[in-house]
Amino acid sequence: MAANKKNGTNTHQAGAPSNAQWGGRFAGGPAAIMQDINASIGFDKALWRQDIAGSLAHAAMLAKTGIISAGDEAQIRKGLTDIAAEIEAGTFDFSTALEDIHMNIEARLSERIGEAGKRLHTARSRNDQVATDFRLWVRDAIDGLDAQVTALLNTLCTRALEHAATPMPGFTHLQTAQPVTFGHHLLAYVEMLARDRGRLSDARRRLNESPLGAAALAGTSFPIDRDMTARALGFDRPTANSLDSVSDRDFALEYLSALSIMAMHLSRLAEEIVIWCSAPFSFIRLSDAFTTGSSIMPQKRNPDAAELIRAKGGRITGALVGLLMVMKGLPLAYAKDMQEDKEPVFAATDAAALSLAAMDGMIRDLSVNAQQMRAYAGAGFSTATDLADWLVRVLKLPFRTAHHVTGRLVGKAEARGIDLSQLSLEDMQAEEAGITKEIFDVLTVDASLASRTSFGGTAPDNVRAQATRWLEALSSTTPRSAEGEKA
Ligand code: ARG
Repeated sequence: MAANKKNGTNTHQAGAPSNAQWGGRFAGGPAAIMQDINASIGFDKALWRQDIAGSLAHAAMLAKTGIISAGDEAQIRKGLTDIAAEIEAGTFDFSTALEDIHMNIEARLSERIGEAGKRLHTARSRNDQVATDFRLWVRDAIDGLDAQVTALLNTLCTRALEHAATPMPGFTHLQTAQPVTFGHHLLAYVEMLARDRGRLSDARRRLNESPLGAAALAGTSFPIDRDMTARALGFDRPTANSLDSVSDRDFALEYLSALSIMAMHLSRLAEEIVIWCSAPFSFIRLSDAFTTGSSIMPQKRNPDAAELIRAKGGRITGALVGLLMVMKGLPLAYAKDMQEDKEPVFAATDAAALSLAAMDGMIRDLSVNAQQMRAYAGAGFSTATDLADWLVRVLKLPFRTAHHVTGRLVGKAEARGIDLSQLSLEDMQAEEAGITKEIFDVLTVDASLASRTSFGGTAPDNVRAQATRWLEALSSTTPRSAEGEKA
């Protein structure tokens, strides 16, 4: 079958013997199509490290509680370590007939060490096993992405500091609104991505409970020690309800939600990059390293990486919605539908990792056309609010009245095709007699920027302080992946 070829696994024919792990009561083997739809080894082999870690912890606990002998545990440990080496070396023969990663490893263990291997599955089920493996996998993925988000935050802050005073037009409705600085704009994404980081870490905290020992759905009659396995795997505690342990996937959904929101943020920044480097804007330029050419139009420099980040946001959200739909109608406890939880999570993780890396590359790469940005920062009557604020501050006009006066002045300038600062004092005084020549001081882009000193505002001094504060904060956080906390 094509699906199996693609996954590089053996395809077993119809009439194959029944599954060696559970085939006791089965006289015949599965139809080929049954095997194809049932097998998950093509994708869940990605869980092999977590599966082996889980089995090592389980075996150590079985020995400690006297459920298996110390000798058996030593053999199991050696066997699993050897199997890990086989998988690492690419010599492990993944079998579709053995369905999934759990049975592939367990069958190989029995093949290598005999009787002792067959004792490993005491007091556990694939249901708690897969729930454990998957939580461990998502936890590792979060740690990897956390390091990547942190790197991107550093890059954004560094560029923000560099451009703390570079004016650009700030937009609402994509219409020129008021001048801001490019650094301030980048720091907006720093705030978003820092919250994304927080969401991932919240999800991590909630998922960090061990389902191992819930067994099939009801717990077990063996005197297991769930605290011991939880501790060994770096979980904070065991999950409290066996049914919930094997049937819930909200940890994966919460992770995908956090990724979807982050991907939405990356997509918005990607979209802005696309706009900024289009010729009519020409606010930024991406180098050859982050653009592609057109096969027909020699002048083109296409921002493909930004476009693909924008698209991956759609697919990551698709993964979230897809898994929500898989889960929403399932009665407790485990159902095989839940095997379909892994591919969307794996795919979304790859897409998020690639998006973060490409965004980091583009932000480092982009060069700013400061002249063009400054020109547009002052165009479109962007300092009209500054004029109105002057009328309020100096002439004590009520803001609404000042807004009307300013509106009339904008109309006058627009009709003549000139800017507000090009109106004469007489033009101004015709609308409001109290205006003095000092008003021209607030109509420049730099004056407008410098005046925005309210907390969180775009004044270059503010932007410098915020970027510096962030860089300091980031340098004192250790990404989890560097803490050596992995199972
Ligand atoms: N491959 C399965 C999954 O990913 C493992 C659990 C199978 N459990 C079962 N009772 N069939 O969901």
